Amino acid sequence: METVKPELLKTLAQKASTFSHSPFSKYPVGAALQTEDGAIYTGCNIESSSYGLTVCAERNAIASAVVNGHKKFRAMAVYSLNGATPCGACRQVIWDICGNIPIYVFDQNGHKKMYWTKDLLPNPFDDTKLEKKNNP
Ligand code: THU
Repeated sequence: METVKPELLKTLAQKASTFSHSPFSKYPVGAALQTEDGAIYTGCNIESSSYGLTVCAERNAIASAVVNGHKKFRAMAVYSLNGATPCGACRQVIWDICGNIPIYVFDQNGHKKMYWTKDLLPNPFDDTKLEKKNNP
């Protein structure tokens, strides 16, 4: 079991934010996701001229980890200038794919807050609702 190093995740999330494609909002975000075995995958927000197609940093980090074969996760860091917490869509996907992990939120001053997924998304909808026994 790898230990989580929030400061390392922060450094990688901050670096990822420098790759953000955010010409419309001009709001760069980076995320770093640590897998159970200690690998770290990053993502940045990528905006589309068709605004609704924008994908957040958190979901891009998750996609990067999943496409590399990872299924179990230990922690995530999110970096933005003013310390954004994950949006609603990301909270759902973090819960679905990563489960109840610590999410470290950093701002440009290095201020850190930690949230558990379950606290960001109370009373979640998830795959348990789709199981046959709960879905007559
Ligand atoms: N954004 C993220 O990447 N993650 C968040 O947690 C909040 C919002 C992005 C989406 C969009 O590119 C920009 O920030 C402004 O909403």
